[in-house]
Amino acid sequence: MSETSPSNSSQSGSGEANTGGPTHVAVIMDGNGRWAQSRGKPRLFGHHAGAKRVKEIVRACPDLGVEYLTIFAFSTENWKRTQTEVSGLMSLFRRYIQGEMKGLVAEGVRVRFIGDRVRLDKKLIRLMDELEEVTKENSRVHLTIAINYGGRDEVSRAVKDLAHDVAQGNLDPDTVDETTLTRYLDTRVLPDPDLVIRTSGEARISNFLLWQSAYSEYEFIDTLWPDFTAEVFAECVSRYAGRDRRFGGVKS
Ligand code: FPP
Repeated sequence: MSETSPSNSSQSGSGEANTGGPTHVAVIMDGNGRWAQSRGKPRLFGHHAGAKRVKEIVRACPDLGVEYLTIFAFSTENWKRTQTEVSGLMSLFRRYIQGEMKGLVAEGVRVRFIGDRVRLDKKLIRLMDELEEVTKENSRVHLTIAINYGGRDEVSRAVKDLAHDVAQGNLDPDTVDETTLTRYLDTRVLPDPDLVIRTSGEARISNFLLWQSAYSEYEFIDTLWPDFTAEVFAECVSRYAGRDRRFGGVKS
């Protein structure tokens, strides 16, 4: 593992409240299907509208002090959708990468992908690798896109890799603690999310960043993802700043 995790209040367990805005915001972009259906359009129409919002929200991050943005684009459970929707989403991801690559480089965005790549098609994987490579010197915004990602799947894969290291004599099992496991997760180079937003009125986490969001603040908002403007994002960020985070400690 070449990269190391940045220092992070959520991981420190310091018991101190965070008085500023969120450094890392994670988003469950829900409601594309309903947004499209309410307009008499196919679900993919909503996903395309949702992709435009991704661009706008990434652009809004620097002014809001958000350094890390992690978005849930496709879950390990989303394969259960129709073949038309799944292949439409995969093709949207390819088009998004091809269409946005230059702009993301120019705007100082570093892109990473998390999730298991085994089921993804080779062309998409090549584009993901390329986007990660061409943006690797950027640091204005760290955009992480979760594709074929599930929190339980991520922890299972991490435990499997850790077990291999123990079996090969590279890791002493008696030294394994929370930090050790964190180093095997897809998100090992990211701080924990300070704020997790879910759009569309659903109040559940759907297997997203289960380990990492242990002490995250949550915002469940009614807005459907294609209606999630930079203004709505700014409101969520500003509400977060008023919260008192204690990480299990008490107010000093
Ligand atoms: C959930 O809404 C959304 C998804 C499963 C896909 C999210 C994908 C995008 C926003 C496309 C753009 C992403 C990138 C990275 C270009 P839903 O379809 O489950 O909505 P519903 O609950 O109303 O049916």
